[in-house]
Amino acid sequence: MSPRGVLDIACAKLEHLERVLPAFPHTTRAGRWRTGEHGRWTGGFWIGLLWLAYLHTSAPAFREAAYRWTRRLAPRAADTTTHDMGFLFGPSCVTGYRITGDPWFKDLALEAARSLYSRYRPQGPFLPAWDEEGAPECEGLQIVDSVANLPLLVWAAGEAGRGEWREAALAVARKIAVEHVRPDGSTIQVVEFDPHTGEVVRKRTHQGYSADSCWSRGQAWASYGFANLSRYTGIPMFREVAVMCARWFLEHLPPDAIPFWDFEAPAIPDEPRDAAAAAVAYAAAGLLRDHAAQQRLGQALVEHCFEARPEPYQGLVRHATADRPRNSAVDESTIYGDYYFLEGAFREVWPSRAALLY
Ligand code: GLY
Repeated sequence: MSPRGVLDIACAKLEHLERVLPAFPHTTRAGRWRTGEHGRWTGGFWIGLLWLAYLHTSAPAFREAAYRWTRRLAPRAADTTTHDMGFLFGPSCVTGYRITGDPWFKDLALEAARSLYSRYRPQGPFLPAWDEEGAPECEGLQIVDSVANLPLLVWAAGEAGRGEWREAALAVARKIAVEHVRPDGSTIQVVEFDPHTGEVVRKRTHQGYSADSCWSRGQAWASYGFANLSRYTGIPMFREVAVMCARWFLEHLPPDAIPFWDFEAPAIPDEPRDAAAAAVAYAAAGLLRDHAAQQRLGQALVEHCFEARPEPYQGLVRHATADRPRNSAVDESTIYGDYYFLEGAFREVWPSRAALLY
C-alpha cells in the first residue's frame, strides 16, 4: 500500500474514532483505546492526528474536532510537573497555529513553553523529566526523550522574544548529546544529575533492558528530536547527532525492520517489538530526507503493523510496547506510535505541507 493509501484509510478510521472516543486515547488494551480526560503526556498526539487528517483531506470536521479537543487539553499548558510540554503542545498548538493563524493556539503553546522553562536547571544543565512525590531522585533525572520536547522552547523563544528560552533548550540538547548519546551513536535513557551541583551521578535505564543496552524508542526519540532541533536552529551539530542516532537504529534493526523493545531484547526469547519506535524513526527519516529509510520503515510498518479496519481493533499501528519492564501496554497500540506513523506517511506524500507540522 502506498503512503497516500495509508493516509486515506487512516483518515476514515480517525473520523470514526473521533465520534466514539470519550476522552484522550493513550494506549490500547486488546486493541481498544484506554482513555483519560487528563491527556497524560500524549493528548497532543491525538490532536496532531486530527490536524494531519485535516491537512490531508481538507475536511472541516477534522479542523473543528482539533479545536474541540484542544479546548479540553488547554488547562495542561500550566502544568509545570513534566518535561512533556513539547509532546503535548507541539503537534496540537504549534501545528494548529501554523495551520489556522489563530493566536489562541500560539498563546497556549507559549504558556506551555513557559511551564517547560520553569524546569530548566542551569547547573547541569538539565531538564528533570517528571516530579514524583517522595522520590527526591527525580529532581535530577533527565531522560533522552526530552530532546523531542526542546523544539517547543526554541519556537516559543522566537515568537516571544525570549532568548533565554532558546539558550536553555540548546544547552540541554548539547548536554544530552554528550551524556546520553554514546560515541557509537546508541543512547542511554536516563542520566541522574546531582540537583544541587549539576554533576552526573549515575546513568541507567527506565523503560529499557539495562544501563548498557539501547532502548529502541529512546533511540528513535534521539533521532527525531535532534533532527527536529536542526530544522528549528540550523545548527549542523544537531543534524550530525540525529544522523548518527538514526544510522545506529537502522543498522541494528532485525530483518523485518520492526525493532524489539530494546536492541538487546532479541537475545531473550519471545520478547515483544516496539512498532512505535519504528514509527518515530520513520518520521525522523522524513525530517532527515533519508528516502531509503523512509521506504524501508514505512513499508515494514504497513506490512507488519498497520490495522486498516476501524473496528474492533482501534489502533492504527499494532505491536507497540509502551513499557516492557512494567508490563504496561505490551504488544498493543500507542497514540504516539499512531501519530508518528501518520506523520511519516504525510512527510512522504506532502513534503512541502510538512513545514506546517511542529
Ligand atoms: N516517555 C516517552 C516514552 O515512553 O516514549
